[in-house]
Amino acid sequence: MNAPVLRNPAMTAPAPSTLAHVPFVSVANMMRLVHHVGVEPMLLGLTDYIEEDFRRWELFDKTPRVASHSRDGVIELMPTSDGEVYGFKYVNGHPKNTRAGLQTVTAFGLLATVDTGYPVLLSEMTVLTALRTAATSAMVARHLAPEGTKTMALIGNGAQSEFQALAMRAVCGVDRLRLFDIDPASTEKLVRNLSGHGFDLTPCPTAEEAMEGAGIVTTCTADKQYATILTDNMVGSGIHINAIGGDCPGKTELHPDILKRSDVFVEYPPQTRIEGEIQQMPEDFPVTEMWEVINGTKPGRRDGRQITLFDGVGFAIEDFSALRYVRERVRETGLYEDLDMIADPDDPRDLFGMLQRAAP
Ligand SMILES: NC(=O)c1ccc[n+]([C@@H]2O[C@H](COP(=O)([O-])OP(=O)(O)OC[C@H]3O[C@@H](n4cnc5c(N)ncnc54)[C@H](O)[C@@H]3O)[C@@H](O)[C@H]2O)c1
Repeated sequence: MNAPVLRNPAMTAPAPSTLAHVPFVSVANMMRLVHHVGVEPMLLGLTDYIEEDFRRWELFDKTPRVASHSRDGVIELMPTSDGEVYGFKYVNGHPKNTRAGLQTVTAFGLLATVDTGYPVLLSEMTVLTALRTAATSAMVARHLAPEGTKTMALIGNGAQSEFQALAMRAVCGVDRLRLFDIDPASTEKLVRNLSGHGFDLTPCPTAEEAMEGAGIVTTCTADKQYATILTDNMVGSGIHINAIGGDCPGKTELHPDILKRSDVFVEYPPQTRIEGEIQQMPEDFPVTEMWEVINGTKPGRRDGRQITLFDGVGFAIEDFSALRYVRERVRETGLYEDLDMIADPDDPRDLFGMLQRAAP
């Protein structure tokens, strides 16, 4: 059957209104933006935006992310709002993907104004997620890592790892990296990428050796199962652990005994208790929320012997801050395209008329 209502040759398709246009940041423009600003200045900028939003934490809508799990991975939606702007990120986590030449994590995200609900930014977030995750780790380390730490053990040398290294240098001054990955090709890739960037890089044959002399240890491995990247005997006093790879039910990196000896800091407990290292612990296991440390209402590092552990799973507010940063920078630089994304008829009740007028 034909659909005659869609035929009206006398009419021509109207040009989209300006409200129909949503600024879109493609991967190419995101990469241009990073090079324009500089990777480390951008990581510093993101760190400050995230910290600013952690300071006004109570304003935000908060909910654990909505996760759809499958045998091979997870697809998640991460929404939040500060009352004026709403944002969400779509992100996946598929550890098996790299074996098929695909990435473990891909993402995109959106901001909208709360007063009309119209989107105001659509952006790639695969690159941005790596930047915001590293900026969050560095923001936390700025408050918790032992004073003057220059050496970090970096365990898991995949897609996130260089970003973690650069953020820790930009924000905390870390410039010595001790590296371990079960796949030596990952470590070789990291060394290739960061050679000539002023780091002292030491590939190590085991995770234990990578931890020698390190004040910070970052674990960013990917495995869709309980893994034990660090055991209790490997963790000396005074260290800061930045554990970001355990971020799903059934996917952890640390032996539970480490958690018992550490002071554990988290983003949003209702989400971290489902997804983080603390999923291995009882429901009432004590944790400190990072926003309270940043606001000065809860203590961070108290002394040089304390083990601080950031059980980072990635929270929606960090993505919101990252999109807020990108929105301001692309306004200044014009590094976006207008996407004809929102149907916006002259008469808002005549959506069908607009469709009809667009008939070929
Ligand atoms: N917390 C957050 O906000 C956040 C954000 C993004 C990614 N992640 C998580 O970080 C992890 C790393 O992400 P990615 O994109 O770098 O993944 P990736 O697959 O690119 O890299 C992971 C690396 O870990 C290595 N690895 C696996 N098991 C190991 C082990 N037992 N010991 C040492 N190395 C091991 C792999 O060989 C690989 O090189 C993933 O689990 C991802 O879900 C967390």
